[in-house]
Amino acid sequence: MAQEKSLILFPLLVLVLLVLGWVEPSLGKESRAMKFQRQHMDPGGPSNNSNYCNQMMRRRNMTKGWCKRVNTFVHEPLVDVQAVCFQGNITCKNGQPNCHKSNSSMNITDCHETSGSKYPNCDYQTSHKERHIIVACEGNPYVPVHFDASVEVSIGDQSSEMPLESSVSPSSLLPLREMTQGRAAMQHKSVSLA
Ligand SMILES: *[C@@H]1O[C@H](CO)[C@@H](O)[C@H](O)[C@H]1NC(C)=O
Ligand SMILES: *[C@@H]1O[C@H](CO)[C@@H](O)[C@H](O)[C@H]1NC(C)=O
Ligand SMILES: *[C@@H]1O[C@H](CO)[C@@H](O)[C@H](O)[C@H]1NC(C)=O
Ligand SMILES: *[C@@H]1O[C@H](CO)[C@@H](O)[C@H](O)[C@H]1NC(C)=O
Ligand SMILES: *[C@@H]1O[C@H](CO)[C@@H](O)[C@H](O)[C@H]1NC(C)=O
Repeated sequence: MAQEKSLILFPLLVLVLLVLGWVEPSLGKESRAMKFQRQHMDPGGPSNNSNYCNQMMRRRNMTKGWCKRVNTFVHEPLVDVQAVCFQGNITCKNGQPNCHKSNSSMNITDCHETSGSKYPNCDYQTSHKERHIIVACEGNPYVPVHFDASVEVSIGDQSSEMPLESSVSPSSLLPLREMTQGRAAMQHKSVSLA
């Protein structure tokens, strides 16, 4: 009898644990899509303010625990950025096939940690640009979950490519994730060399 009971209870316990494990992250943790919006969306901007990155990197919680080295904010409506998921298919820096390049250029702001920056006093250089953006998309609905890069000209459009672009063209970039400090550091380096 006791054995029968445990035969029923054990699967039940497994089920409860599975449900808890499934529900808890969706309650407590932000989704990758939400994280993308927190880190990269600012449709109201760009403000004409050289302090923009210092304020926004702090406001969007990217200076907690450490200073995120580089980050890009996009100043276009969310629907326009989400639409990029259905535009030019390209390979991401990390080799994944789910990246997409925007058909049109967008107003963006690049934030780069300055050499004098030291946690917890994170300090950033602010530069406003008009670039095509490259985002990785995921899920159903298929939405942006990662900001991969920004480019000045169409990929493959070598004739009009400027020398400056060679340092940030996707082919020359390392297969590291944006989330890792390593990639941020490399990108920081490649941009400051450019
Ligand atoms: C941006 O700010 C600078 C200096 O603060 C000012 O001279 C310039 O007129 C401003 N531009 C716009 C478009 O507000
Ligand atoms: C930043 O973190 C604080 C505390 O963890 C949280 O209350 C706030 O909503 C976060 N801000 C953003 C923009 O996610
Ligand atoms: C991208 O790939 C998807 C699926 O492979 C395809 O349906 C879509 O037409 C492609 N879009 C472009 C712009 O190449
Ligand atoms: C984006 O550009 C590609 C190639 O130029 C074109 O085939 C596609 O229709 C465009 N998509 C949108 C949504 O404008
Ligand atoms: C960027 O913003 C400026 C000022 O609002 C606007 O004139 C320009 O057309 C925008 N560029 C793009 C690519 O949206």
